[in-house]
Amino acid sequence: MSRFKKIAQKFEDRVENIDFFETSAIAKIQNDLLKIVDEETKQILFLIGEPGSGKSVFLDRLPSFLQGYETIKFDTPFFEPVDFIKTLITRSGEKVEDFSLESMIQQAIAIYKASNLFIAIDEAQLLSKPMVELIRILADSKAFWFLLAMHRHESEAILKEPQFASRPHKVLDMGGLTLDELFDFIQQELRLAHEESIARDFTKKYVKSIHKLCKGNFRESKKLLNKLFLLMDEAQKKGKKRWTKPSRCLLTMAAIDGGLIRV
Ligand SMILES: Nc1ncnc2c1ncn2[C@@H]1O[C@H](COP(=O)(O)OP(=O)(O)O)[C@@H](O)[C@H]1O
Ligand SMILES: [Mg+2]
Repeated sequence: MSRFKKIAQKFEDRVENIDFFETSAIAKIQNDLLKIVDEETKQILFLIGEPGSGKSVFLDRLPSFLQGYETIKFDTPFFEPVDFIKTLITRSGEKVEDFSLESMIQQAIAIYKASNLFIAIDEAQLLSKPMVELIRILADSKAFWFLLAMHRHESEAILKEPQFASRPHKVLDMGGLTLDELFDFIQQELRLAHEESIARDFTKKYVKSIHKLCKGNFRESKKLLNKLFLLMDEAQKKGKKRWTKPSRCLLTMAAIDGGLIRV
């Protein structure tokens, strides 16, 4: 694979097989979460943030720092209450005793009452009403921890719904990357790719432009960097040496391509 394509791959948008980078937002959420599970009773917690802020990456990392807890993560919330509760029962190794929803709920609560099960649900803004109701019942039983990750925008309406608004709830906020963090992240990735000289081309000033275009959003930043290196790859293949350095013009081209600048 060509050199620039290899670098571009480092900035592909994905949740698994990434070089995890700890931001101040992540450190804070991690601390807050550890404090809550340590000091409070089982409840529903919310993780909110813009799309692309790193919520899914954070959920993926839960097992690594929530020690003493058993974590399960659901990536998409498209399930029926019956299927969800069945999954909880069967994963414990037990058999469903009675297939009515009410009995299954009681069975699941009995199984997990004394456990330390931490259930994370990604894209929770898509949960159906019956699922939200079920989660409320399960959380009220004090048998489960829940962490619901959702888009900031949609979370406002969801948190106003009676199931949530009627009880105090904790909201963890995944903020964006600061300029310094974006700079350090880019340096980290390029160093890991053994590209010290390109890392030097990414000056604070240059990264500032990226930060401004992407508004500190992790996904947008990665997509822009991915595009930038793919353009450099194209240029190299076509023998256009002038375009094989991260210039301002190249950044504009990548941003137009990614829809960050409209023309
Ligand atoms: N802590 C992190 N370290 C490295 N990359 C990250 C981190 N957080 C997010 N990313 C990257 O940013 C992009 C968006 O992250 P993701 O978790 O999918 O956001 P969200 O779930 O909030 O939409 C992904 O490409 C992911 O690899
Ligand atoms: Mg996500």
